[in-house]
Amino acid sequence: MQMPANRDRVLVIDDDPHSLEFLSEILAGENLKVLSAGSGRSALEAITTKAPSLILLDINMPGIDGFEICEKLKADVRYCGIPIIFVSGVHNHKEKIRGFDLGAVDFISKPYHADELIARVRTHLELNRLRTKLEAEVALRTKELFHSFKQMRKVLEAIVNAMAVIVETRDPYTAGHQRRVSQLSLSIAEEMKLDKEVIEGLQMAAAIHDIGKISIPAEILTKPSKLTDMEFNLIKDHPRAGYAILKDIEFPWPIARMVLEHHERLDGSGYPQGLKGRDMLLESRILAVADVVESMASHRPYRPGMGIDTALDEIENNRGILYDADVVDVCLRLFQEGRYSFGDPR
Ligand SMILES: [Fe+2]
Repeated sequence: MQMPANRDRVLVIDDDPHSLEFLSEILAGENLKVLSAGSGRSALEAITTKAPSLILLDINMPGIDGFEICEKLKADVRYCGIPIIFVSGVHNHKEKIRGFDLGAVDFISKPYHADELIARVRTHLELNRLRTKLEAEVALRTKELFHSFKQMRKVLEAIVNAMAVIVETRDPYTAGHQRRVSQLSLSIAEEMKLDKEVIEGLQMAAAIHDIGKISIPAEILTKPSKLTDMEFNLIKDHPRAGYAILKDIEFPWPIARMVLEHHERLDGSGYPQGLKGRDMLLESRILAVADVVESMASHRPYRPGMGIDTALDEIENNRGILYDADVVDVCLRLFQEGRYSFGDPR
């Protein structure tokens, strides 16, 4: 006769041959595959050969006793999920509690009714089946969620890059500026050992920090001569314009706020809000330093690049006045130790 392939395997462990035989007979009548072991040692061997679905375990046995077996199995990730039911003549309630403390799911006292024993075995097999199914479901859903989360981040990154390209297409003189500011911001933030999540947001904000320039007429952006006050005021409006574009997008980071604050200065002399000190986000204070250093070092329509030394002098001279002292120190260290340079020519 062919046996059903998915019959539950129940391991019965008891040093008393009569108890072992009686238990095995009861369970075999229930279409369960019954394995038996007459000692702790042979039980452990049987388990490692092929893990059973459930274990019925005697306590008092010569050599390795039931408690020790239970303890060993619960400490082993391969077998800790197997439900263990103690079946014992022990009636001391403290011993029973010890069994549960060691991780057993049930305790059946001898003598027992066969029907009750079968009902308990069935219940625990079913509970274990449900638990295993639930664990597999949670693992699968977690994997799916992680995958869609990664996809979402990729899409977000692509959209932000597309936004950066749009601004730079209208303003060829600053092409690459946002990318270089983003790279320098990243290096400063990493050197400051900021959280990986925070760094990711800062990088993204830096990559589009001048997005508000989209609202400035191209003639002003590319004007080779000195700007009039009115033109300069229009340019100064770009952090606010950028904020207006981004504020309703639910980024997982305060991107719009970083964009709004990237021209603020520690002493309140910046724009558009004239914020002071720690009213600005730390990310904004990093972005401000990276922006100034990159802008001064590179060419602008109305002036040639001033070089990296002049840019670093600017932040050093205004350390703690216009720019965050810690951010300035880290930025100076990166350049002075030759650990950072603007790679491509401008
Ligand atoms: Fe800007």
